[in-house]
Amino acid sequence: MRLKIEREGRVVRVRLHRPEVLNALDAALMTELVEALTPLDADPGVGCFVITGSERAFAAGADIKEMSGKSAADMIAEDYFAGWEAFAALRTPKLAAVSGYALGGGCELAMMCDMIIAGDDAKFGQPEITLGVIPGIGGTQRLTRLVGKAKAMDLILTGRLIDAEEAERIGLVSRVVPAETLAAEANAIAEQIAGYGKLAVMAARDCVDRALETGLADGIRYERRAFHALFATADQQEGMRAFKEKRAPEFTGR
Ligand code: CAA
Repeated sequence: MRLKIEREGRVVRVRLHRPEVLNALDAALMTELVEALTPLDADPGVGCFVITGSERAFAAGADIKEMSGKSAADMIAEDYFAGWEAFAALRTPKLAAVSGYALGGGCELAMMCDMIIAGDDAKFGQPEITLGVIPGIGGTQRLTRLVGKAKAMDLILTGRLIDAEEAERIGLVSRVVPAETLAAEANAIAEQIAGYGKLAVMAARDCVDRALETGLADGIRYERRAFHALFATADQQEGMRAFKEKRAPEFTGR
């Protein structure tokens, strides 16, 4: 098994587990990841995923040894990396809790998550240029949208690694916490998010993602439709009723 999965209440924690190769992401790991999370994604009882690695590495990239034997024809015929989009498309919020290396495909996997919480020992980078290739799982696109051209070019053209503090400063990372408290902090954030109405949470993350893909006027229209639609949910009724009654809401995900 390349993953360790545990569910606690509404939070599902997934630990990438190929310690011998610093959690290099091969096709089998990605298949296992998507097969494990897809049914949980549809479960209204699951409110948040936390994706994490080891202390030494979140993931040191796509598996270079697996890729190295492939020809261009293999890559095209297999549409190598296409399966990763299934991970990105999961609608349950995903937190990446990053300790150690998040490089290449590891950084790209973290960027497919909704938030990156980094331990202060984390290192991020897109070193593919040092291998004679480029980021191939969305890195040139997502990184540029997240941190802008200047920093994306810097990281992608030089392949240099940045620490957690710089990653937070440039907007790649949501929060930096002491490495020893990373798991606890990530769980606390996940539990907070998982405690809200899942339909509202899914709509919120969908609308924020839409902002990376569309112009302002279209994005605002999209947001307004999503906002209006939430008034068809029991959780909207419950959330607003609970506010008026000065009590905590009890969301059901419906
Ligand atoms: N793929 C396959 N194996 C990897 C790997 C990867 N991405 N990263 C590390 N490993 C393996 C190493 O080969 C090594 O295995 P062996 O013991 O069998 O030699 C083991 O993990 C431990 O690694 P190191 O001995 O190199 O550990 P280190 O502490 O000296 O260095 C490191 C750590 C700086 C992360 C270094 O391992 C490294 O540079 N890894 C590669 C990083 C990289 O280039 N990532 C991008 C991959 S390409 C990609 O992701 C494509 C894409 O965007 C589409």
